[in-house]
Amino acid sequence: MIIAHNFSLKDYNTFGLDVSAKTFVSVDNEAALQNFLLNSPHRHDLALLLGGGSNMLLTRPVEGTVLHVAITGKHIIEENDEYAIIEAGAGENWHALVLWAIENALGGIENLSLIPGNIGTAPIQNIGAYGVELKDTFHSLDAIDVKTAQKRTFSLQECNFGYRESAFKTTLKNRYIITKVRLKLKKTPHSLSVNYGAIKAELDKRNISSPTIKDISDAVIAIRQSKLPDPKVLGNSGSFFKNPVVTNEIAEALKKENPTLPEYDAGAGLKKIAAGWLIEQCGLKGYRQGDAGVHALQALVLVNYGTATGNDILTLANYVITSVYNKFGITLEPEVNIIS
Ligand code: EPU
Repeated sequence: MIIAHNFSLKDYNTFGLDVSAKTFVSVDNEAALQNFLLNSPHRHDLALLLGGGSNMLLTRPVEGTVLHVAITGKHIIEENDEYAIIEAGAGENWHALVLWAIENALGGIENLSLIPGNIGTAPIQNIGAYGVELKDTFHSLDAIDVKTAQKRTFSLQECNFGYRESAFKTTLKNRYIITKVRLKLKKTPHSLSVNYGAIKAELDKRNISSPTIKDISDAVIAIRQSKLPDPKVLGNSGSFFKNPVVTNEIAEALKKENPTLPEYDAGAGLKKIAAGWLIEQCGLKGYRQGDAGVHALQALVLVNYGTATGNDILTLANYVITSVYNKFGITLEPEVNIIS
C-alpha cells in the first residue's frame, strides 16, 4: 500500500488537471484493499475512488482520501474450442488488454481499441465504440463492498448495463470497488462487427475485404487518432456528453427542421441523436474559453489546452448545454463524472 499526502492528481486524470488530494492511497491487491477498508485510519474520510481517471472532471481539491485501485494481472481462466474467459485486474490499462486479446487471437473487444482508462472502470459506464459495448463480451466481475470489505461477484444481469450506464453509476453508486473483470472472448472463427460506417470506410480505404480482428483494431486506432485527441498530448475525457436518446416523435420533428441530423434507432420507440452534430450546428466546434475548448475535430469532446481548471471546463460545458438547449430544445447530459 502506498500512502502520500497533499498529492497532485495531475498524472492521474486524463484532463491533466492539477488538483491535490489531502491523502492518496494506492492498493495493488484485494487483501490490501480489504485491509484499508477495515483498518486504515484514512478509511473514514474516503472521498474518491480512482481508476484510470479517464472519465472524471475534478473541480476542486479533494479534502479527503483518494483511493487508487492498481490491481494488475491478466490471464485466461477457462477455455474451450470456441471461447476463452479472461480475467484482468481493475488496474490493467484497457487498450493494453485489447492488444493482448488480439495477440492471443481472442475476438470481441477489437472495436474498443484505444479507449483510454483501466479495465476496472470500463464496466461502470459500459464503455462503447463503433457498434460494440463492454456488455457484449462481459462475463462477470468481482467487487469489494466499501462498508463491509466483503467480496462479491456480479453477473451480467446484476450489472444492469445500458448506454453508458450500469448499476455502479446508479443504484450501487460508491458502494463497491471493482477489483477484477472477466470477459468471454471468441476464438476463430471470430464474429466481427464491421457495420459502423467509419470502420467500413477505413477498411475499404485499406483494400481489406475479409478483415481479421487485428485489421479492425488497426482501423479503429486510425479512426480514433484522426479525430479524438490523445490525452497525453491534449487533456480530455473522450466524449464529454452522452448522445441524447429521444422519442421517435421528437427525433422526427428535429429531422424535419434539420434533415442532415445523424440519428440511430435505439429501440422501444426511441432514437439516439448525435450530440457532436448538435454542438457543431451551434457554431461551437473549435470554440475556446481561454484554455478550455470544444475540440476542433470532434465537438463532443472538451479539451484542456494546458492551464484550464476543472471549473473552466465545467463553465464551458454549461455554455454548450445552454447553447444546444436554446437552439434545439434538447438538454445534453454529461457522460463524464463531475466531482464537485
Ligand atoms: N458529428 C458531427 N460533428 C462533430 C462530431 C460528430 O457532425 O463534431 C456527427 C458525425 O459526422 C456522425 C455523428 O455525429 O454523423 C456521430 O459521430 P461519431 O461517429 O464521431 O460518434 P459520436 O456519436 O460523436 C460515439 C461515442 C464515442 C465513440 C464513437 C464511435 C458517445 C457519447 N460517444 O461518439 O465514444 O468512440 O461514438 O462509436 O456515445 C467516449 O465515450 O468517450 C467516446 C469517444
